[in-house]
Order: sequence, then structure tokens, then C-alpha cells
Amino acid sequence: MRPGRPLVFAHRGGADALPEHTLAAYLRALDEGADGVECDVRLTRDGHLVCVHDRKLDRTSNGTGRVSAKTLAELDALDFGSWHASAATLEEPLEDHTRLLTLDGLLEALRGCGRQVRLLIETKHPSRYGAEVERRLVRALHRHGLAEPAPASPVQVTVMSFAALALRRIRNLTPRIPTVYLLEILPPGVGRGRLPFGARIAGPGIGLVRARPGLIPALRAAGLQTYVWTVNDDRDLEAVVAQGADGIITDRPRFVIDRLADA
Ligand code: G3P
Ligand code: CA
Repeated sequence: MRPGRPLVFAHRGGADALPEHTLAAYLRALDEGADGVECDVRLTRDGHLVCVHDRKLDRTSNGTGRVSAKTLAELDALDFGSWHASAATLEEPLEDHTRLLTLDGLLEALRGCGRQVRLLIETKHPSRYGAEVERRLVRALHRHGLAEPAPASPVQVTVMSFAALALRRIRNLTPRIPTVYLLEILPPGVGRGRLPFGARIAGPGIGLVRARPGLIPALRAAGLQTYVWTVNDDRDLEAVVAQGADGIITDRPRFVIDRLADA
């Protein structure tokens, strides 16, 4: 992609083409040329971080109940892919199209994918487990040599949260990791560039950007970057590019990459 273009991140691995948060989805998005991928992390009953968006298993697997009530071994036995429309259209089975992905598994795969990639990790439910999610996240980053950002690192990690509390914990645990403050509404001061706990990137939802077209330019004027989610169609894409977004988080990385290449 040409310099000056926004970065393209595959939301949940690119949830449109393949089942979200599966290794098959992440690898396809990177093959298609995404600059990076986004994943949500949750804690299992036995303390593993797994890449799952919903609090419950029901929508994206053949299991039921809360992710946090299951052990990793119980989750590993579930099918996380067959619910998705792609399951009916695949000509050949894809590797890990149906398996749960752990954060460790994702970090391992990204480190070995043959080029430098960006990874946005969103911590879910930061208050329910004390600081356990952030502690385990930072421990995993240390295990993979990714806790200290370095220009040559194969995976450039950024941590995101809607909760300022989570950003504070990350800053205390690993102060140099960049953070994104995710926004659905605009808290006081944020539009003038005051983000909590050292965050330098704002992450507004597309609904907020539509409602406040001056937001991205104002954040830019305040010296901040903006990553917008979830941008999946032409109208929104044109608007956020025109307003100067630095990153686009999308379920349709191929579509966004093609449109940006044509622009
Ligand atoms: O990238 C931020 C975005 O993922 C937040 O929304 O619900 O998809 O995690 P959600
Ligand atoms: Ca997310």
C-alpha cells in the first residue's frame, strides 16, 4: 500500500469471509494484504486467554454458556467454524477453520507468517477479573518477545480497550506498548485530544464518526491518530479516508484494500 494510506486491520480476523477469530481467517486477511489484524481476548476458567468476542459461546460455536465458565480443554473440543456461511461453500477444508484460537496460538502464527504484521488486541470485561486479563496478556507478550516495541519486531502489538482502567493497567505493566482508547460515545475532553493514561490513538466507532464528522480532523490537530471501526462499505470508507483516519478496522479487508488501491 502506498505511504499516506490508512492502515487496514482485519476485524476479528476479517469476520465476513471466514469465521471470526479462527486462524484461517487471520491468515487469509494477511494473505490478502491487510497490514494487521484485530482480536478480542477473554479469560477461560483455568486462566488462558482465548480469542473470542462474545461473553457466551452460543453465536460462534456449537457450545453454550459463558467462555469464562469453561476450561481451555473444554473450549478446544468445540467447533468454532461450522456456523459460518463459508462452511457451506469451501471446496476444501481449511486448516484451523473450526478451532478455537488462543492468544498464544495467534502470536505464534503471526510471528511465523513471514512478514511484519500489526496486531490490535482488545481486552474485554476489564473489571470482572481484577487485573488478571492484562497481567496474562502482558505475560504472553513477554513469552513471545513482544512486550517491548521494536522497529524490527515481527509483530507490532497495540492494546485497545473501551475502559480507561484497562489502559492504565497496561501502561503500568508495560509502558511502551501503544494503546487505543475505543469510543462509542465522546467523553468530555476526548474531542480536544485528552485521551486517558498515555493513549495516543483514539478508536471511534463508525456511528460516532458519522455523527461527528469533525472528530477525526480535531484529533489529528491535537496530534493523535485515529483508528475507526467497523468500516465495511463504500460510503463509510470514503468518509473516513477523506477525514484523514490513520487506520481502518474492517470485516472486509479485501474490499477495503481493493478500494484504497483504486483511489
Ligand atoms: O476494533 C474495535 C471493535 O472491535 C470494537 O467492537 O464489539 O467488535 O469488539 P467489537
Ligand atoms: Ca473488538
